Amino acid sequence: MSKTVFTKTFGCQMNERDSEIMEQLLAQAGYIPVAEQSGADLVILNTCSIRAKAEQKVFSLLGMLRKQKKEQPGLRIVVAGCVAQQEGQQIFKRMPHVDIVVGTQQIYQLPDMLLRLEQGETKREISCDMEKSFSIPPFQKLLSPSPALTEFRKFVTIMQGCNNFCTYCVVPSTRGREISRPVADILEEVTLLTQQGVKEITLLGQNVNSYGCTNPVAEQKTGFADLLRLTAKMSGVDRLRFTTSNPQDLSSGLMQCFKDIPNLCPHFHLPVQAGSNSVLKKMHRKYTRELYLEKVDQLRSFCPEIAISTDVIVGFPGESEEDFQQTMEILETVRFHGSFSFKYSDRPNTRSADFADKVDEKVKGERLKRFQDRQDQISLERNREYIGTSVEVMVEKCKPGSIQARTRSNHIVHFPAPVETSVNLQLGDTTLVTINHAGKHSLNGVLTE
Ligand code: SAH
Ligand code: SF4
Ligand code: F3S
Repeated sequence: MSKTVFTKTFGCQMNERDSEIMEQLLAQAGYIPVAEQSGADLVILNTCSIRAKAEQKVFSLLGMLRKQKKEQPGLRIVVAGCVAQQEGQQIFKRMPHVDIVVGTQQIYQLPDMLLRLEQGETKREISCDMEKSFSIPPFQKLLSPSPALTEFRKFVTIMQGCNNFCTYCVVPSTRGREISRPVADILEEVTLLTQQGVKEITLLGQNVNSYGCTNPVAEQKTGFADLLRLTAKMSGVDRLRFTTSNPQDLSSGLMQCFKDIPNLCPHFHLPVQAGSNSVLKKMHRKYTRELYLEKVDQLRSFCPEIAISTDVIVGFPGESEEDFQQTMEILETVRFHGSFSFKYSDRPNTRSADFADKVDEKVKGERLKRFQDRQDQISLERNREYIGTSVEVMVEKCKPGSIQARTRSNHIVHFPAPVETSVNLQLGDTTLVTINHAGKHSLNGVLTE
């Protein structure tokens, strides 16, 4: 009889992609994916370790699974992702009911690991061992999207790992060294996706701007701007996006793409992290506030309508009120369309965990609130600039009477579903909407006449 598998994914799109791959591999091994945790034969937690809170969530969920396993002794529990890679077999000490720990570069071995477990091998023989540091992985194999694919937006991984070693960040230790995926593999995956009806592709990596600098194929000379141009030309790619860029590697060649490539969407996620040069230095971000602002200006000169978003960390060790004010100043100068902002937290195996002058939790909380309140006001003001304009949107959710869509600049728009049956909007369709209302997180409009 077939077994069922429930996968819960935390963290970034890399993890989402990995979950999809694990589910596909398990489907080939006879497992049926289910949407409910209760009653599943196998539960996979694909975990994230980027901030302390993310890790706490995983352990509290594992605590709850202990109860489920008591009632259902045959239940198998797998921990995958960045917490798995970071903790290795230590997880068994705290959570003895876990059956397998799968490292970030072992996902292809999961079906085999489960089989070995059933055949009587011990979980310690099978699971990820932190002592054996990982080698360069066999590069992500191409798995065709499932035939039941209903999404029209998809992420395509173009590189794994990261070599930047920002002092606060776990990614270099949980994902390993940066490695670029061969161009041919990427284009083959894009072809498969568009053949299945996918219309929007997002190229994915921790630092896409350095694509091609670290490739397994020595003769490959394609840089990120070249890869964008190649992908944009593929038939069926209506919209092209990418994430994430590191300001230090943002070249004018990449900025030029926004002028030349019509299907490249005018949205740029450019994490600044902090506005003070001394904090940026301690973070090991290899740019200054001046260089960041210069890149923003340049980007806007190539593409005036580009929407810029960012990531910010408040309360990095040693951050003074004056340092924080400089982050606020960057916000005032750039006027980001939106941002993700976080309180700094110490992470295992990172250098900043050992830095002195940790900022008080209460102060971090206050700074975060000040930043977010001001960002909300700016987002609202920015969003109001769209009122009265007609924008192209792609439909992404159809509810009775109401449609949710996304602009090329990555804004969410809600509008009433057309009443005439002649206008039949489907997921992935593009249409024009005239914006008549702006909130801080989304826009409203009506179909353009
Ligand atoms: N590769 C991307 C970031 C990936 S992690 C880049 O370089 O920009 C996503 C975000 O999490 C980071 O941009 C940072 O803002 C935040 N982050 C990472 N480590 C953190 C930590 N220790 N504490 C708080 N926020 C952190
Ligand atoms: Fe982490 Fe820095 Fe790499 Fe981004 S660039 S993943 S923040 S080490
Ligand atoms: Fe989290 Fe790992 Fe992604 S730490 S953000 S799941 S790379």
